[in-house]
Amino acid sequence: MCTVSFSQKDNASEKKIQSLIKKMTLSEKVGLLHGNSKFYTAGVKRLGIPEWALSDGPHGVRAEMNRHDWNYAGWTNDFATSFPPGTAMAATWNLELTRQRGYVLGEEARFRKKDVLLGPGVNIIRTPLGGRNFEYLSEDPFLNSRLAVAYINALQTKDVAASVKHFLANSQEKNRFAIDVNMSERALREIYLPAFKASVMEGGSLTVMAAYNKFRGEFCTENSYLIQTLLRDEFQFKGVYMSDWDGTHSTEKAALAGLDLEMGTANKKYDDWYFANPLIKAVQEGRVKMSIVDEKVANILRVMITTKVIKPKNREVGSMNTKEHQQAAYRSAVESVVLLKNEQDLLPLDMSAIKSVAVIGDNATRLQCGGGLSSEVKTLYEITPLQAVTTKFGESVQINYAQGYDKQSQPGEGSNKGQLNTDTIDWKLIDEAVEQAKKSDVAVIFAGLNHDFDSESFDRIHMRLPYGQETLIQEVAKVNPKTIVVIIAGSPLELSGVAHRVPSLVWGWYGGMEAGNAVWDVLSGKEFPSGKLPFTLPVSLNQSPAHALGNYPGRNLTVNYGEDILVGYRWFDTKNIATMYPFGFGLSYTTFDMATISSDKKEYNQNDEITITVTITNTGNKAGAEVVQLYTGQTQSTVMRPTKELKAFEKVFLKAGEKKTIALKLNVQNMAFYNEKTSSWIVEPGEFVMHVGTSVNNIHSSLPIMVN
Ligand code: BGC
Repeated sequence: MCTVSFSQKDNASEKKIQSLIKKMTLSEKVGLLHGNSKFYTAGVKRLGIPEWALSDGPHGVRAEMNRHDWNYAGWTNDFATSFPPGTAMAATWNLELTRQRGYVLGEEARFRKKDVLLGPGVNIIRTPLGGRNFEYLSEDPFLNSRLAVAYINALQTKDVAASVKHFLANSQEKNRFAIDVNMSERALREIYLPAFKASVMEGGSLTVMAAYNKFRGEFCTENSYLIQTLLRDEFQFKGVYMSDWDGTHSTEKAALAGLDLEMGTANKKYDDWYFANPLIKAVQEGRVKMSIVDEKVANILRVMITTKVIKPKNREVGSMNTKEHQQAAYRSAVESVVLLKNEQDLLPLDMSAIKSVAVIGDNATRLQCGGGLSSEVKTLYEITPLQAVTTKFGESVQINYAQGYDKQSQPGEGSNKGQLNTDTIDWKLIDEAVEQAKKSDVAVIFAGLNHDFDSESFDRIHMRLPYGQETLIQEVAKVNPKTIVVIIAGSPLELSGVAHRVPSLVWGWYGGMEAGNAVWDVLSGKEFPSGKLPFTLPVSLNQSPAHALGNYPGRNLTVNYGEDILVGYRWFDTKNIATMYPFGFGLSYTTFDMATISSDKKEYNQNDEITITVTITNTGNKAGAEVVQLYTGQTQSTVMRPTKELKAFEKVFLKAGEKKTIALKLNVQNMAFYNEKTSSWIVEPGEFVMHVGTSVNNIHSSLPIMVN
């Protein structure tokens, strides 16, 4: 595994850092600790320290902004490669593709002369309504951890620092600047912390961005438990802990708690920011020791040296918008597509036998890459579904387009933008769609959300399909039995009103710049679907844990994570609540058979590694890929434990008839729970069950093992 985290014995760098610090005045030091514009900090030219350039974001390098306001600078050379956002990346369950994304983002960030790329976002998807779900990854800490490590390792080989965000517990956007999140220590350790821990300890993330919210009463930018106890002491983090933009609230408290860098403070002159003149004053008055300032400067210089910002000899120069980058975005989009339902093998469509296709829905023509706020990308191009089908098949197939529903004018700009009037049914548009569907061999409806819903800064207010889409789907399906629904969205939706009405249902995500090509290549069988849900699709919102228990969005600006460790599938599975589609689920165009699993031993000791072997065969007549998932459970325990928890997975590609044997590995210690009484991880001796399957609900083989 290649990582560019600092080597602790890097004495030469540490000496260099100390010698630079010795030469710096207090105001030069402080200049490094706060922004001097929206995305830069001041350097110290006379000492060879350049300005530090930070940029969003997690699925493409964001376009250049003006230095001093939030408008785009209007450059013509800042178009970038745009990948499918977080949940789509997670749906690929493919760590190699995730690494490729990291390399591409690193290349493009360097080409644009950026030093820090603000991502990945690894917060847990706790509620289906979360505005940033699409940007984050999944509802599972293990899957998030593996993806984050792959991404960060690759990105940082390009001499660009990652900034894993948002530390910690930004699982809702509602009241994000003020909400106080409370959870048990066990939920923290088992669910919300692992992806950050892995990002720092295995991924070597050089910077970490604080969340806006409070955690147990203190803002994340001034929370010494989060910063000192967890990040610095436990995870041995030696990089930069930065605020989110406008997330700093104090000078002394934040400085002493461990914040290194203040960014984006609003409505104040740069010199008046908390870590500007007020920090100088605090040092002069002895409220903050010079050694504390020096530590912060050292953290920043350490990252700068590691990524060759200082002494840029042999630094990566990067590249932009190459064919390879676009191909990586395409592969990521293809492998994210999840086939949820496919009666009588309606898909893949044999386009050579089809004379006409109705393409319906505003999402067939909507450009999505430029939405979502800080993660938006000014993409070099974006292929919509309608464009793709027209280019690929327009010469031989009649394409009958209808908009189907209307994205109404936005009544509530700002918070809850676009959500007030979105349930209106436009019968004129539906009738037009029905006409097109009637005269076509098949109908494909591109439904779902858009970035008026999947966006930073607010949550959705319900989980249903907006804009009267349920009615649209129902009416189209009445006149065309070959109706396929493709959901374009980055977070869970209630599909119980539509899934039974159509023979085929596909989750197509926001697919980045190659969205249309990817989805049509899957629909037409040039590629096969191999994505798996990175979150549960509940039957209805009120069955989802945070909502079932009335713990969203909180009261008096406080939210208690009362569902504790039973987040996502852990809740549904443990409580035996039926879901619409389970975590990890996704069909193929072929069939697979999994043989009974075996383990390398029957009994294990506490420090052993467990190897579970399984043979998987493609029993159909088409190529395909299956994600083999290993979940573990403990038969009896002194504390409540989820029935199953994901501990290993592998995506296996198989030609028709091909067979492979794979080994899934985990350490006995990976099955520990966090014991709040002893403040330690414990594996209680006894029987554990290894479950191997293709979703949390589709277990093919279970095997008990003993731990001594
Ligand atoms: C977001 C961050 C982002 C920053 C800079 C904030 O609003 O929460 O994720 O990196 O803006 O654009």
